[in-house]
Parts: sequence; structure tokens; C-alpha cells
Amino acid sequence: MSRETVIQDLKKYRQKHPNEAGVVDRLVEFVREQEDCFERSLLQGHVTGSVWLVDPSGLNVLLTHHRKLNKWFQLGGHVDGNSNVLEAARREAEEESGLQHLSVIEPGIFDIDIHLIPGRKLEPEHYHYDIRYAFQALGSTEYHVSAESLDLKWVPIDQIREYTTEESMLRMAEKWKATQTMNSQQTQAEILESIIRARKTDKITCEIEDRRPVPDERQKHGKATVLHSLEVAGWAPFHYPSNDKNIHEPWRAYVLWDDEVSQLLRELTNEHRFKQSKLQKLTAACSALVLVTWIPEQRAEIKEENRNKINEENLAAAAAMVQNFLLMLTAHGMSNYWSSGGDLGKSDVFELLGIPKQQRLIAAVFIEYNDMKNLQPHKTCAPGKHRDKRSTNWIQQTRIH
Ligand SMILES: Cc1cc2nc3c(=O)[nH]c(=O)nc-3n(C[C@H](O)[C@H](O)[C@H](O)COP(=O)(O)O)c2cc1C
Repeated sequence: MSRETVIQDLKKYRQKHPNEAGVVDRLVEFVREQEDCFERSLLQGHVTGSVWLVDPSGLNVLLTHHRKLNKWFQLGGHVDGNSNVLEAARREAEEESGLQHLSVIEPGIFDIDIHLIPGRKLEPEHYHYDIRYAFQALGSTEYHVSAESLDLKWVPIDQIREYTTEESMLRMAEKWKATQTMNSQQTQAEILESIIRARKTDKITCEIEDRRPVPDERQKHGKATVLHSLEVAGWAPFHYPSNDKNIHEPWRAYVLWDDEVSQLLRELTNEHRFKQSKLQKLTAACSALVLVTWIPEQRAEIKEENRNKINEENLAAAAAMVQNFLLMLTAHGMSNYWSSGGDLGKSDVFELLGIPKQQRLIAAVFIEYNDMKNLQPHKTCAPGKHRDKRSTNWIQQTRIH
């Protein structure tokens, strides 16, 4: 991002909020004229980034009781040279609250405010040109209070006046309530679209010796969410039932909770069965692992041609189930990664896990429960490979030739 991008975003905001044109114009002029506008070293003032952070219900906003100013504010702070104000604001909010899975509700600017910061010993009186974005905490709402705050609190938006009389905060509350009224008209299609677009690969890894158990209170919520997500995922379409008369679906899911993952890691490492260190590191970092298999057609009386067709369709159905599962995990704010599974698909591992040998592994889904980042900061996270290469070029509106 650049100063020009920020100016363009401000112009879009101006169109949406013509009654705020005066303050928008001051901000645009400041960004246009001051090359160092994102640096706190610019003593006359600087751009700052804030977050109007609501909980999953949208009814409460997270406020911080500011240590230096002794007042309740939204989260946010200096952008420290980052012209991507949205990302800088998100980083500040995460640092101040310890929350993760903060999802931007709308990438456009939510509110702006220019306010005077009183002078202190080391810095003169100056302006903050504050650009605010609306975010929602999709995962856990359990925050931690950083050194910058006296306290943090989820404040019911209807009761915000009990915490502040700041005009700009009351304005944000009103703006939020207005969007909520509009959002209640958000269609199911729009909600579904946002979840599909939000799903992404998080390859979370750590060294084996750094594996830590998932705390009990997270286990309970984590297990319930994973099981529920699987149950919902099972509404994927399928054509051919499996031969097991009790289980129609042509897929199976084998769930390994935290203890079993640790055990599997020990077994496979001791036996030198894990040749791929990436797989070891993924296993070491996950909170739960779900192996999804599909069931090939075995009956000899079925002609090969038909058998191939059935197998293709069973594989396709199992893939639909896996995608449903990833979407559910995403909607619940859990990180996930669909891997082919490498050595996990081998017959000795299947035997170890009691998976019938004729089944075929289609997905090893590595899951990290919500809010583990702060508990296990030694983990690293990498994105999937194709994230930035998506296009719509694969859609062909075919004509009859
Ligand atoms: C059947 C299947 C198997 C996959 N196996 C692997 C794998 O073993 N290793 C890998 O790096 N990515 C694998 N991927 C790709 C990632 O899961 C991911 O989808 C991809 O990196 C794109 O990133 P995104 O999900 O964030 O868009 C697999 C995807 C599918 C559908």
C-alpha cells in the first residue's frame, strides 16, 4: 500500500459519509503533503490505526482502559511506518488484546477522527489522524490485558455511554448499529460466500521437542467443535453407498485428539517411520488431526469400467466432505490445512490406527484450535501455495461448436 492508496480509500469513505467531508479533506491533505505521515517521528502529528472490534454476536465492543490517558477507548495505535493502516491496526489490536482470528468486516474505512494528543515530557502536543476499521473476533473472546492497558472489557454497545462520552466513539457505536440493521438483511448467500473466501491454508509447524499439550479447557470446546463440524460436513453429496450396511457414506473420518497425536508422533518418530520432517513438524504443532479416507469399490463381480467410475465418484464425494469440514472449521475460527498426508497414508500407519487397509487416505487435516497462538508462540505458520494465484480464467462459457 502507499499514501495514494490511503487517499483513494479516504475518497471512497467521503462518498459514503458526505457529512464528514470536512474532516476527510483535512486527513487527505495531511497524507498528501506529509511524506512521513505514517511515522511517529513526525512531531506535528501522524496517521494512526484503530479497530472497532466486535465479538461474534456483534453486540459487544472490546474497549481498553488506557493506562496513560485513564479513559476507555477502542484498540489501536501507531502504525510505525506501515502505510497498510488496516494491517497495522489489526496488529495493534492483536497485541493489545491477545486475540487472534480478527476478521475484517469490511476492508473499507469504518470511521476517521483527528484529535489532539496533549504534550508530555518527551513529545510535544500533536495530532493523531486516526483511521479506523471494523473487525469481528471470530474465535475465542478471551483477551489478555497488555501493559498498555489498565483493563480491557467487552462493553455492550448499547451501554457504551457508561464508559465514554467521546463523540467519535459514540459515532462509531451509531455507525455500527446502522450496519447491523443492514447486516440483518445480509443474505445466506453472502454469509456463505464470506466463509468460502475466508478459508485458507495455515501450515502450522513446530519442532517435535516443542510440542505442548492443549490445556483442558480448550480441549473440551475444541473436541465439540471438531465433532460438530464433521457431522455437518457429512451432508456432502455422494452417489454410491459403501458396502458397510451400517454406514452408507463412501468416506470415513479418523479423529486423533491431542494425546493420540502425541502418541502417534512418538511411535512414528521412534520407529523412524516418519521420513518427511515437514509432516513431523505439522503433527507436532497440531491440536487435533483428522484423517479422511475414501472407500474403493472392491467387489470382483463389478466390471472394471464401472468400478473406475464408482471410485472416481467416491473420491469426489469424499473431497466434497473434506471441503465442507474445512469451511466449518473456518467458520469456527480454527486454523486448518488439507495435506495429502504422505507417510500417514501408508499401510503400517493404517494398521497402527486401526484403519482398514483397503481404504485410501484423501486428506490429513491438521487443525489448530482457536487462540493457541499465545499459548504456543514457538509455532510458525506458513500460507498455502496458490493463494495469490487465483483467477477466474478457468470458467469457460462454452458455445456449441
Ligand atoms: C487433495 C489435496 C491434497 C493436498 N495435499 C497437499 C500437500 O500434501 N502438501 C501441500 O503443501 N499442499 C497440499 N494441498 C494444497 C493445500 O491444502 C492448499 O489448498 C493450497 O496450498 C492452497 O492454499 P489455500 O488453501 O490457502 O488457498 C492439497 C490440496 C488438496 C485438495
